[in-house]
Amino acid sequence: MKVMSVFGTRPEAIKMAPLVKKLEAAKDFESVLCVTAQHREMLDQVLDLFELTPDHDLNIMKPNQTLSMITAGVLTGMETVLEKEKPDIVLVHGDTSTTFSTALAAFYQKIPVGHVEAGLRTYDMYSPFPEEVNRVLTGHLASVHFAPTVKNRDNLLKEGVAEDKIYITGNTVVDALLNVAGKPYEFEDDILKNMDFENKRVILVTCHRRENLGEYMMNIFSAIRDIAQEFNDVEVVYPVHLNPKVRELAGSILSGCENVHLIDPLSYQPFVNLMAKSYFVITDSGGMQEEAPSLGKPVLVVRRETERPEALAAGTVKLAGVERETIAAMARELLTDAAEYAKMSKASNPYGDGTACDKILEALRGVRDTGR
Ligand code: UD1
Ligand code: UDP
Repeated sequence: MKVMSVFGTRPEAIKMAPLVKKLEAAKDFESVLCVTAQHREMLDQVLDLFELTPDHDLNIMKPNQTLSMITAGVLTGMETVLEKEKPDIVLVHGDTSTTFSTALAAFYQKIPVGHVEAGLRTYDMYSPFPEEVNRVLTGHLASVHFAPTVKNRDNLLKEGVAEDKIYITGNTVVDALLNVAGKPYEFEDDILKNMDFENKRVILVTCHRRENLGEYMMNIFSAIRDIAQEFNDVEVVYPVHLNPKVRELAGSILSGCENVHLIDPLSYQPFVNLMAKSYFVITDSGGMQEEAPSLGKPVLVVRRETERPEALAAGTVKLAGVERETIAAMARELLTDAAEYAKMSKASNPYGDGTACDKILEALRGVRDTGR
């Protein structure tokens, strides 16, 4: 079975890397890797870490690219690659514009699509934007759905997807995390090398979502500044996404604070090690809501909703919204209320146990052998 895996952004790459490694190692699959490079530097960090060499690289990224630029670039670039490779199935991941455009390009050539991380929903088409709709549309184009959780499967069933096309696998991010977290690592970054993790409480921040750009992001950064100024035993470390709009806003609100460190995006291995050493996390990232429960790190999600309610139910994650006072109050609570902190610091992950990739390979063998 010739399987072509496609991804383009950092989170897709992290979550697909362990799967591509397994496909490459399995004797009964022919693995082809195509990257769109919707992200360039942040994608290459992951390719380097997992020692993956793409067979095709569409290299589409442009500074300040619009959604239409990404969609058109992937759609036209993918046409040629699919015509050349003629895979038996194309695997896409999640909810990015790379994901949706690749699924559409494959559909145009009547090539089946396998959707990894299928079935997550907020049911609000503008939040996350455009990811909710990207994921729904990809689901409509897919022939096989790899749902991380029972809830994700149930969402697909409600939308009329046949039960025998859905496999519950867990999330491959846990496979990636366990791959990387167990290995010994020393920080190379000067700020992290010199950080006093014993006596300071490190708050790890990431923030990049399109729907947060503007007023909400200003609120989030202002709340972080408030907390940094209020607690002198706190150090905030924020590896800032390479999106120029995010960098400008983060710089304008946070760069003057002594105990706030704005650094470049970290490769996955130092990032996971930093998360493991931090006190808690403030983020609007999807992937970090799935990783933090494995490390037992409380997460304040700075969004209005989440398509990942399992981590909320497990107690590791709280929705902090996008208002300055609420975010600051919830961070303050974690810094001052030991019982609340302890309640959120339990290490138990509802997203899987590191066997998602094996389950996906088994499901693909089933598809191959039964011709479904
Ligand atoms: C994209 C995904 C989002 C995902 C996020 C992960 C879409 C619509 N959005 O959003 O779902 O959560 O990636 O980070 O698919 N840039 C660089 N170098 C890089 C990466 C980005 O310079 O390695 C800059 C470029 O100027 C680029 C901009 O960031 O134009 C925005 O990148 P883009 O992929 O359009 O959007 P993200 O907000 O990163
Ligand atoms: N991450 C990383 N380096 C960083 C910031 C994040 O390796 O500097 C990882 C993080 O552990 C998670 C993924 O990148 O696995 C999340 O990516 P991002 O926040 O770009 O996207 P999202 O999760 O919101 O889709």
